Order: sequence, then structure tokens, then C-alpha cells
Amino acid sequence: MKRVKAGIFGAGYVGLVTAAGLASRGLDIAVHDTSKEKIATLTAGGLPIFEPGLEKLLAEQHITYIQTAKELVTSCRYLFLCVGTPQAKNGEADLSFLESAVKTICRYADSDKIVIIKSTVPPGTGRLMEKLSETMNIEHRITFVSNPEFLRQGNAVQDFLFPDRIVIGSDDDETGTEVLQLYKQWDCPKLQMNRESAELTKYAANTFLAMKISYMNMMAGLAEKTGANIEDIERGIGSDSRIGKDFLKAGAGFGGSCFPKDLRALASIGTELNEELPLIRETLYINENQAKAVLRKLSTVFGGLLGRKIAVLGLSFKPMTDDVRSSPAVSAAEQLLLLGADVNVYDPLVRDNPVAGAVKSPSLLDCLEGCDAAIIMTEWDEFREILKPKMLNKLKSPVIVDGRNMFQLKEMKKLSREFPLYYDSVGR
Ligand code: UGA
Repeated sequence: MKRVKAGIFGAGYVGLVTAAGLASRGLDIAVHDTSKEKIATLTAGGLPIFEPGLEKLLAEQHITYIQTAKELVTSCRYLFLCVGTPQAKNGEADLSFLESAVKTICRYADSDKIVIIKSTVPPGTGRLMEKLSETMNIEHRITFVSNPEFLRQGNAVQDFLFPDRIVIGSDDDETGTEVLQLYKQWDCPKLQMNRESAELTKYAANTFLAMKISYMNMMAGLAEKTGANIEDIERGIGSDSRIGKDFLKAGAGFGGSCFPKDLRALASIGTELNEELPLIRETLYINENQAKAVLRKLSTVFGGLLGRKIAVLGLSFKPMTDDVRSSPAVSAAEQLLLLGADVNVYDPLVRDNPVAGAVKSPSLLDCLEGCDAAIIMTEWDEFREILKPKMLNKLKSPVIVDGRNMFQLKEMKKLSREFPLYYDSVGR
């Protein structure tokens, strides 16, 4: 049987996971990126990003990496757009990479094409791209389908292979059904809808998850003032299947390349359409204050942070990634510097130092050396080591503020009987 040929525009984490995942289920896949360097790295068997399990899955497939867009367009009927839609200055999604990929497709299309948009885009973008393609006066039909992804960094391969659902948005059922055929090996609910609904579903999912987190962070403040424990609230409400147990962890707030950007993009869509969207604004507001709330705990211990030396543990926006985009850890380190503290930072995976003015330590032990306190901003497993005496002894005063509730209160109570330790966390 002839294998289906699909082309992927964009060798970022969505593009490469999509490529590896589709290839592993029998599709014939080619990948193109405007970065010649990325394509060269991939051709040589390297991986330009960090994503657990991806290197292995890619290596097992026969994927063609293509330097020229023309070759990709002419050889594939199905073209997946997995290019970035970063945040523009006004908060809107910047669609310039998407537009330029669409223009490229129109320029080289030598037969009818189905363009499948995986990038996160505002509702109406598929239609906009269709109009753009029509103005380019080409003789072939370019059809646009929305197929948002719900991949989590650090878990993207599993999320792609075993998703909760696949969403396909198209103008006509026939095209939607044709695209769904590409996923015939997937055994999960497959939801067909119109293009705008699929585009909005992506924003609705991310903002809902972010809202759950901000909701719990709001409750955490209340728990602290009432003597409740946010983890008990988490269990108490999470066991209600209507609420669901995931994404209820209180802490230093959400970061990453998706939640903050997508919430801002949705807020500006609301402004443009004269829809207020107060929940989106509040979710962002609570989140922006959350890292500050964690720092206040530290400040209270010392009555100010001027001249204090603080170890910031973690830089990535969550464990198992080296991504520091919109990371609460980075913003906490920056705020500490503004408050006049000296700052050491350590992260097991992040290589560069994203915090100008902070000293990046090569190890956890080094990071703690001579510090007044440590603040945990990313829940890397390695940070459990901090409770060992040889680590605690590196701190001038053993103060730990745990912005991710890594440790059980019971174990900390027990430890503080053996070791003079000040420990505070979020909402308990
Ligand atoms: C998120 C979504 O979870 C994916 O479904 C979506 O596809 C992706 O955005 C995207 O739009 O591309 P991701 O940004 O990789 O995925 O990270 P998450 O695992 O969702 O975590 C986001 C942030 O929320 C992290 O900073 C994490 O620490 C924080 N978080 C998460 C909490 O503070 N509490 C929780 O209970 C869960």
C-alpha cells in the first residue's frame, strides 16, 4: 500500500513531534524549516530542541529533511503548518511566520493542497489564510483545516501518540474527514467541527487550565489566612469528577511559551471584538502576583532582602524542560535583584544564564554556598537533595521557601526537630 505523504513546515517542538508521531504510525513524512541550520542538524541525526523520547522516536523513522520549501510543497498533498505564532508587542498573536508559509505554499502549489494549521492561531485565521491564498490567484485549490495540538513540553511524544482527543476544524465535512484519515491509527475521540470552533478550542483549553491554576493560587492565599491546607482543598475538590484532579497545584504560578502568551492573545481578541473576558484578565493578574507572593514570604523572614544572598533553585518554567520563556523562576530572580539581594541561580538543565546580574552555579551545592536562604521555583527532583545536612550546612541560615510545595509538611516538621530550619511553602 502506498504511504501517505505529508509535509511539515517548522522543525520546532510541535513540528518535530508531529513528524515523528505521524511517521511512527506509517505516514511518509518530510520536514522543512526556514532555518538551514536546523535542517542540517536534523539531517546529521541531531536534535535542535530538548524533548524526552523525541530523539529516539525520530531516529527510528525515515523522515526526509528538506532545505527548499518548493520541494516540500510539490511533493505533498497534506501540509502541516507548525510554525511559531509568538506574542506581538500589543499582546496579539504574530501571524507573520504563518503568512509567509502560506504564501510559499501558494507560490509553489502544482496541484490541490490541504493545509493543516497546527500553530495556535486566533479564530478566523484559517479563513484569513484562505482569503490570502485566493488573492494569490493560483489555479489550484488550497483548503485550510485547523488541527490544534494539546502537547505538553516534556510529555509531548506521549501526548501526541496517546491524546485525549483529536480536534479537526474544517469548512466542509468532506475535507475534515479526509484529514481525519491521517489519524486512522489513533484510538481516541475524534471531534469534527467548524474551523473557528477548532481554533477557539485551543485557546479555551489553555485558558481553562491556566484558570484552574490561578484559582488554586487564589485559594492558597485564603488557606494561609484561615489555617487550611491547599493540598487538602486540592484533594477535596479534585475528587469531584466534574472538577477533575489535574492542574490544581498551587505554587509560584504558571509560565512557559503557551499559557501566558495564549491568555494575552485571547485578551486582545476580546478587546478587538468588544468582549470583556474578565476571567482571562483575572487569571493573568493572579499569576503575575504569584511569584511576588512567594518572594514576600522570604522578605518577611529577614525584614527586607537588601544585601541578602538568595539561592534560586530552578530556572525552567517547569521540570523536564530547558525552556525559560515566561518562567516564574526567572522573574523571581530578577525581582530579588531589584530588591537589592545577591542572587545565585541553579537549574539542572538550563545551560545559559537568563538572569543578568545573577551568578549561575554549576551545581546545587555551589548554589547554596554562603546563601541566607534558598527559594524553590521549579520542582526538579534533584532539589530533594537540599534536605541533606551537607546541603543545608552550606546555607548561612537554613531558610527554605518552597514555591512549588515539593516537600511534605510532615517530613519538614520531623526534620526541623533534628535541624534548626525555617520552612515555608504555598497555601499550607
Ligand atoms: C500547555 C498545555 O498543558 C498543553 O496542553 C498545550 O498544548 C501547550 O501548553 C501549548 O499550548 O503548546 P506546557 O506549556 O508545556 O503545556 O506546560 P504545562 O504542563 O501545561 O504547564 C504550564 C505551567 O503551569 C507550568 O509553569 C507549571 O508549573 C504550571 N502548573 C501546572 C501549575 O502551576 N500547577 C499545576 O497544577 C499545573
